[in-house]
Amino acid sequence: MAPAPSDATLPLHRPESVLPLGGPAVDDGDGVPTVERVVSRRWGKPESWTLASYEKDGGYEALKKALSMQPGQLVDEVKRSNLRGRGGAGFPTGMKWSFIPKDNPKPRYLCVNADESEPGTFKDRYILDNDPHSLVEGAAIAAYAIGAHRAYVYVRGELQRQADRLEAAIREATAAGHLGPKVMGSDFALEIHVHRGAGAYICGEETALLESLEGKRGWPRLKPPFPAVVGLFGSPTVVNNVETLANVPQIISKGADWFAKLGTEKSGGTRLVCVSGHVKRPGVYEISMKTTIRQIVEQLCGGPEGGRKVKAVIPGGSSAPVLSASELDVACEFEALKNAGTMAGSGGIIVMDESTCLVRALWRIAKFYAEESCGQCTPCREGTPWQEGLLHKLESGRGTSRDIDDLLSVASAICPFPPMGLGNTICALGDAAALPVHSFLKRFRPEFEAHAKEHRCPFDAPWGASSEAYAGGVELRRRWS
Ligand SMILES: Cc1cc2nc3c(=O)[nH]c(=O)nc-3n(C[C@H](O)[C@H](O)[C@H](O)COP(=O)(O)O)c2cc1C
Ligand code: SF4
Repeated sequence: MAPAPSDATLPLHRPESVLPLGGPAVDDGDGVPTVERVVSRRWGKPESWTLASYEKDGGYEALKKALSMQPGQLVDEVKRSNLRGRGGAGFPTGMKWSFIPKDNPKPRYLCVNADESEPGTFKDRYILDNDPHSLVEGAAIAAYAIGAHRAYVYVRGELQRQADRLEAAIREATAAGHLGPKVMGSDFALEIHVHRGAGAYICGEETALLESLEGKRGWPRLKPPFPAVVGLFGSPTVVNNVETLANVPQIISKGADWFAKLGTEKSGGTRLVCVSGHVKRPGVYEISMKTTIRQIVEQLCGGPEGGRKVKAVIPGGSSAPVLSASELDVACEFEALKNAGTMAGSGGIIVMDESTCLVRALWRIAKFYAEESCGQCTPCREGTPWQEGLLHKLESGRGTSRDIDDLLSVASAICPFPPMGLGNTICALGDAAALPVHSFLKRFRPEFEAHAKEHRCPFDAPWGASSEAYAGGVELRRRWS
């Protein structure tokens, strides 16, 4: 049995998500780098989502300080903090804010991306649940920095309680004068509106999100122009992730240097990672970016049950290229993961132990992307169902080696490997669908070949199906094909 996690690293994936947490990280000598908590520091405190509780912990002092500064100073401070976007791409936040043109007379907008639909990712909902005022304050500071008087938070449709908490927080902040026509008595006016999505993954892509907010079908836009120049209603717009903005009040209160020092040379602060799959202690953890994937999987999360070995880990949500068990000594940081041939993505770490059939796992992932493709561009619309079909064929014992080659060729038509920026599609969903195929085959091709050679899946039935029923289903599919 692995040692229990330190106070700094308690798993938070609980139905109520209100564990007694708080205070600085404790170094319990297990070699896992410790770090001061930033975004999760208030989680678990009584009524942590209320204004009274937030203000007791110094809430909205950062906004007051920000309003005494020039917007340009705020942008510079966030630049110096090395804060990078936590939504997937890791783009430097201060730099994104600085792209808003100064001479454009149109209104400016801030859009907060709370769509959180990438498989394996479940961190932003904890912020909305436990500390919505940190997002409201972060959004208010960001809006002031870019000169926006209206902000929208696009919340994934399924997140009912989180949307309710956020709306309550906005009401409380407005009643207290922290939002509204004279924010904290200043000349700055700001309204924040919550917009509920309807459950489409593609609406998390920033330009699809803008289309959806405008009341249209969530189809991504061709870029350039980027949203900073032509965004919501054709106006300059910044789109930022929830976790990104929840860091901002602390950066302004404690300073860019403090935040930068918490991280690595090129990435400031800490990270939330959400660990799921074959570990004893799944959950959301706030970690130092120097922590390796192996330390997260084996030490913080206790590794797989029953003494089984880790086989593969996806480090940044289902679209991030998979790593094999021998590649886990890599820091959970944007550059390090990029150098290892994968990406930090949205922080969703999916662990698969040796009992996992990777053909089945990849088939499930491919099915998701085939279903979620918006159908706007040909390689993604046609290629994602092809990928899914070929993987189903292999998993059900009807595939051949030729199907494996075809699978690679379809994935390459969507996004060549290694990727050189965006692949052949309008948005990165195409890459997200193709990269898992490339990486699973690069690292685990023999397992795919075994399915083709033996004309069956060599692993147990999937969870929830008896071996007999599963084998019967596979057999039936073989006979019908
Ligand atoms: C298909 C797809 C889905 C995405 N879903 C999300 C999401 O749910 N939440 C999010 O913050 N970013 C998501 N992104 C990334 C956004 O497009 C965008 O980069 C991000 O919101 C920018 O915020 P950041 O700079 O603070 O990370 C998605 C991207 C793609 C291509
Ligand atoms: S890549 Fe896929 S999801 Fe993105 S625009 Fe093209 S068809 Fe739509």
